Amino acid sequence: MECFPNPVPPEFFERAGLMHARRHVFVCIGPECCSSAEGELLWEVIKKRVKQSGVAAMRTKAACFRICAGGPWLAVYPEGVWYGGVTPERFEVILQQHLLGDSVVDEWVAARCPAAGV
Ligand code: FES
Repeated sequence: MECFPNPVPPEFFERAGLMHARRHVFVCIGPECCSSAEGELLWEVIKKRVKQSGVAAMRTKAACFRICAGGPWLAVYPEGVWYGGVTPERFEVILQQHLLGDSVVDEWVAARCPAAGV
């Protein structure tokens, strides 16, 4: 990652994980696409498993992707792969197969974002 001169010290980027991340996952935790309880449970699992696994991925909780059905949603970039209906059990498969194993879990892909350019 390249950092340009700005008032934010490099260690802030380091702390955020930008310096080593290969991927960035975004998660919508509801409340329209899934229940808030379902979404919060998934978010807690994602935080825990990303840290435990040491996968080179940043993770961000999103408020809403404006899909508002079929969630919780998980978007993986730079591939631009969107998984819907993600449960903690499914996230574990996505973690092992996609984030660690570099192989998309095709049967759960709901959309691919052409803006990703990959
Ligand atoms: S609330 Fe999840 S996409 Fe809108």
